[in-house]
Amino acid sequence: MPTESPLLRPYRDGSLSLPNRVAMAPMTRGRADDDTGVPHPLTSLYYAQRASAGLIVTEGIWPVRTGKSTPGVPGIATAEQVAAWREVTTAVHAAGGRVFAQLWHAGRVSHPSLIGEQTVAPSAVRAEGRVYVKGGWTGTTTPRALSTAELERLVEDFATAARNAIDAGFDGVEIHGANGYLLHEFLADNTNLRTDRYREKIRYPLEVTEAVVAAVGADRVGYRISPGNPENDLVEKDWPALYRELLGEFTRLGLAYLHVVGTDEKVFPEVRPHWPGLLVGNLHQGPPSGREDAERLLEAGLADVIAFGRLFIGNPDLPARFATGAPLVQVDKQLHYGSALKGYVDFPAVTTTRWPSPVPA
Ligand SMILES: Cc1cc2nc3c(=O)[nH]c(=O)nc-3n(C[C@H](O)[C@H](O)[C@H](O)COP(=O)(O)O)c2cc1C
Repeated sequence: MPTESPLLRPYRDGSLSLPNRVAMAPMTRGRADDDTGVPHPLTSLYYAQRASAGLIVTEGIWPVRTGKSTPGVPGIATAEQVAAWREVTTAVHAAGGRVFAQLWHAGRVSHPSLIGEQTVAPSAVRAEGRVYVKGGWTGTTTPRALSTAELERLVEDFATAARNAIDAGFDGVEIHGANGYLLHEFLADNTNLRTDRYREKIRYPLEVTEAVVAAVGADRVGYRISPGNPENDLVEKDWPALYRELLGEFTRLGLAYLHVVGTDEKVFPEVRPHWPGLLVGNLHQGPPSGREDAERLLEAGLADVIAFGRLFIGNPDLPARFATGAPLVQVDKQLHYGSALKGYVDFPAVTTTRWPSPVPA
């Protein structure tokens, strides 16, 4: 039996103690109330069903409304949102899990119809491509550049969102600095054309991280990067040098973990020597990342924990399935996003059941 898998070994070091190395990657599911940004009442069940993950990172959550990317993305700015997240963390903890909230500002990858105003970014540069709005895909729009003062206020908004997350019972927050959204846009050559102090590419992501660390403590802060990932029309010419610099600062701050999205596997050997702490690796190369590649990364010491995204949608008891060799469900893409409840909490565990299993029709 494959029980000796390195994925099933506990991780104990630094501030986090995890029962296995199978993390749930952050995944937007679009089920929150689109007007209020309050998570759906079933969101607590959805995450509790997945509480056997070594660590859950929630879907991206906006700290301020301009950071919202697609319909049904939740926020963590209002009292009502915080109260709903408290139900989620209570349910996950009752089921034995650990959960970090992902703080996500989408930057230019949004649309005025979603946020009620022009989109915002480091510079007024439109992304090639399309964005998803209510009713389907549409063309991107040109964002406006945030002023220095606005960016300073947004640093505070991130810190407030982190405090709200801790108030809501989260074990920590993950700052979303990957995949072409606001913080990543500061790192890229084609999206950061600023002339103020933020022209120094790592400066803004670093100021946000420092403020979040000051608000909730470094041992409750993770950061997600995707070096060299061209998603959402980003160009990073010399990413190894840039990320070395950024990781030097994160090392100084002593963050709880670094989450690395590898659209190219070469990213991991490049990053690992510059990050001494817990490294959560996530392969993002087309089809859902699988077990063999994950085990290879762990055995090579290139990551300490592996995050799985899509496999966690259809297999809420993923670690136990890895342990027992139970078959894995692949989920139809159509069910990933959307306000419909089909595909949300209706994938049963086939192994142990540690939570109630009421499922709505
Ligand atoms: C439906 C869906 C939603 C996603 N939403 C987010 C998100 O909110 N934040 C984020 O950092 N990544 C997000 N991602 C990327 C995943 O975290 C992950 O990097 C990607 O799915 C690759 O891992 P996998 O092959 O295990 O699915 C999302 C991916 C999917 C499929």
